[in-house]
Amino acid sequence: MILITGGAGFIGSNFVLQWLAAQDEAVVNLDKLTYAGNLRNLDSLRGDARHFFVRGDIDDPELVSQLLREHRPRAVLNFAAESHVDRSILGPAEFVRTNIHGTFTMLEAARAYWAGLEGEAKQGFRFLQVSTDEVYGSLGADDAAFCETTAYAPNSPYAASKAAADHMVRAYHHTYGLPTLTTNCSNNYGPFQFPEKLIPLVILNALAGKPLPIYGDGLNVRDWLFVDDHCSGIRRVLEAGRPGEVYNIGGNSEKNNLEVVRTLCAALDELRPAAKPYASLITYVKDRPGHDRRYAIDAARIRRDLAWQPAENFAGGMRRTVQWYLDHQEWVASVTSGEYQKWMSANYQERGAA
Ligand code: NAD
Ligand code: TYD
Repeated sequence: MILITGGAGFIGSNFVLQWLAAQDEAVVNLDKLTYAGNLRNLDSLRGDARHFFVRGDIDDPELVSQLLREHRPRAVLNFAAESHVDRSILGPAEFVRTNIHGTFTMLEAARAYWAGLEGEAKQGFRFLQVSTDEVYGSLGADDAAFCETTAYAPNSPYAASKAAADHMVRAYHHTYGLPTLTTNCSNNYGPFQFPEKLIPLVILNALAGKPLPIYGDGLNVRDWLFVDDHCSGIRRVLEAGRPGEVYNIGGNSEKNNLEVVRTLCAALDELRPAAKPYASLITYVKDRPGHDRRYAIDAARIRRDLAWQPAENFAGGMRRTVQWYLDHQEWVASVTSGEYQKWMSANYQERGAA
């Protein structure tokens, strides 16, 4: 079996669902169920003996060691993190605790467990760290895309905490020989994304007739990848990646924020027509401090060495995502209660878009 952390979050839950749809190998899923974790994402696995959910913290050394001893996984995949840049700006402490110290705790427990393995079990063990392209900093309009050797230059507390964790993973391979893998992926979108992030936030605000808040001039660029493709990339890296190696994963789909929001509005105009075009709700608000201008991923290594490429394109993935949110109003209602409302007023009131 495999042990994954953060499997009740956006990408982790998509990963668990994809993993168990593709094979029978069981998954131990360790998640603290913060505001971003939601067991409803895994409702379709109720009663499925291949999925063991454990509520707990990746920064709890006893718990993590006990899970490794009990379940003896052949791999650990660390998805768990605080993941929202704006939250890291308003409160960085939890990012340092979970993303840096939590990853350290996972690495220490994995190192001790791996040291006690023998033969094929030891050879085959992998620790896979799920990371982000944000560790590389910000690109100018004409700069080459990030590759695996681009120097780290994280700009937000979120990016800095992920960068620190990546460095620890690297050091555990280099110093102790722990067979690690690191993936640095671009912006994901798709089902089960918590609506604090741009794409679900815009879909839900549009449906509620609320302003669609665009930070700054709306020309910041991200490389968007449908979440299923990120999950298939991680599965491929786990299967065939070289220990100690880093793999960038991207969608080859650079868009600025206005293009993203207009694409969402056009899909909504078609699927759920309203009295006025949804784009009339677009509202420019105060920019994010230190807002990175452009991210772009050069995914040549994973394409060349592991023969991976995304299956979905931007237009198709966006349409599927809009349709998913339209079809899952109950899920939306379950995640947009008290805590969510507090965040919306904390982040948007002072920006002038509440
Ligand atoms: P998310 O915020 O939706 O989910 C994070 C999950 O981790 C939640 O289920 C939460 O309960 C859990 N968690 C948080 N702190 C924990 C702790 N201390 N112990 C155990 N569980 C804890 O995040 P996501 O968007 O699914 O991102 C998953 C991973 O992918 C993160 O490591 C993130 O840095 C990385 N990543 C995300 C993106 C993206 O666009 N969302 C892109 C590249 C990489
Ligand atoms: P986000 O989804 O927070 O991802 P990240 O900051 O990790 O890339 O934001 C994506 C882009 O959208 C980013 O440039 C910030 C911008 N943005 C807005 O313009 N308005 C919003 O309300 C949010 C949440 C993001």
